[in-house]
Amino acid sequence: MDLYRYLSREEWLSAIECRHSVRKFTEEKLKEEQIARLTEMIGEINREYGLHVQLLTDEPDAFRAGKPSYGAFSGCRNYIAMVGRKGEDEAIGYTGEALVLLARHLGLGSCWVALTFDHGGVKADIEKGEKLYDLIALGFGQTDGAPHRSKAPESLYTAGAPAPDWFLAGVRAASLAPTAINQQKFRFDLVGERSVRAKHFFGPCAKTDLGIVKLHFALAAGEGNFDFV
Ligand SMILES: Cc1cc2nc3c(=O)[nH]c(=O)nc-3n(C[C@H](O)[C@H](O)[C@H](O)COP(=O)(O)O)c2cc1C
Repeated sequence: MDLYRYLSREEWLSAIECRHSVRKFTEEKLKEEQIARLTEMIGEINREYGLHVQLLTDEPDAFRAGKPSYGAFSGCRNYIAMVGRKGEDEAIGYTGEALVLLARHLGLGSCWVALTFDHGGVKADIEKGEKLYDLIALGFGQTDGAPHRSKAPESLYTAGAPAPDWFLAGVRAASLAPTAINQQKFRFDLVGERSVRAKHFFGPCAKTDLGIVKLHFALAAGEGNFDFV
């Protein structure tokens, strides 16, 4: 996917800086322009990655259930259903996070949701052989959310020699990314001068998280500076 068809590098980096999970939304409907821009990217994602991602608007049922202590949503009437075949966790993370950042740029708050929604209320089309990985709750936030606590950057990477600035910028952007229950179970290893190995450790949704943090890393490190190996 050509990410720079949608936003400039500066716009992607700014969205990374100001994105936080939003769980409380106003009643305001999504604007036509917002729907059109998200739909355009969703079309490209589905063609290129063979996924079945869908945007559902004015559909409050998935978030109507009772209120758990963690992950309670209010006023959520729109979501992106991240649907695909099994084994696509990393692509789901990478492409879903591109949608999250585009939504932030368009003035919308969002939150990845793997658990705290009502499966019975989801209106997405899930075909045989496909599964619903996550929803991305979407709308005008009552607030913009708040920065999460992060592990120390040094615990999120290794590098043989002093790490170059592009690598540290990538790790920092990854540390700002959403991960399930803020677990940050990932690490970036710099191998030689420009090879980067990204790995995840054991944890719920850790493979999806890996796709998410790899997108943040790539946008901030600059794709011309390194190769994922
Ligand atoms: C794959 C994934 C699944 C998530 N599932 C839930 C969820 O079920 N309920 C919820 O309230 N938040 C969920 N979150 C949001 C995380 O709790 C949130 O991203 C994390 O605490 C970091 O906070 P931030 O997004 O504000 O930076 C999920 C995030 C990811 C990446």
